Amino acid sequence: MSSGISSWLLASRRRKVGESVRGTVLDVGFGTGISREFYPAGVRVVGIDASRGMLEVARRSRADADLLVMDAERLAFADQSFDSVAFNLCLCTIPDPERAVPGAPMVFLEHVRSHLLPVALVQEALNPILVAWQADHFNRRTVDVVRRAGVEVVSVERWLLGVFNLIVGRAPAG
Ligand SMILES: C[S@@+](CC[C@H](N)C(=O)[O-])C[C@H]1O[C@@H](n2cnc3c(N)ncnc32)[C@H](O)[C@@H]1O
Repeated sequence: MSSGISSWLLASRRRKVGESVRGTVLDVGFGTGISREFYPAGVRVVGIDASRGMLEVARRSRADADLLVMDAERLAFADQSFDSVAFNLCLCTIPDPERAVPGAPMVFLEHVRSHLLPVALVQEALNPILVAWQADHFNRRTVDVVRRAGVEVVSVERWLLGVFNLIVGRAPAG
């Protein structure tokens, strides 16, 4: 997908992610920092990513965030360290996504396995190619992943035949 098309497809949901965060925000899989401009003024963003190269690009583009190279499966923060946690298109690439969900109010903008069977079957057929090519999983049932990690799912907004989800969740108290 060209970056122009994906920006167009995602811009309104990126804005929704921005509207749902507050305070000190952990952005997991920060990448080159595309999400940063969608967050409101006044939030402090901590961006973590496994790729030093991605964060280097974010740094060069002056993304206003504290950047740390870190594996999302081994987050070095205590639970409740953040007011919000945002996942933008990263649970599809993290090998064990359930390990990457810490305690806090959360929002996930992800591409997922569609709830529509014909679409899901196409995704299943394409998945081995995309995993081999980009280590990107097109068949993840991300709402289930999030629930199994202990998050109470508050809302799921689906678009583009259910291939994209905006999931808002709440971590259990304590
Ligand atoms: C598709 S990019 C999304 C980047 C950005 N969040 C955005 O909205 O465009 C996925 C990002 O997740 C990062 N990532 C993959 N596995 C990771 C892991 N185990 N820990 C931390 N970051 C990871 C990748 O390096 C990449 O920057």
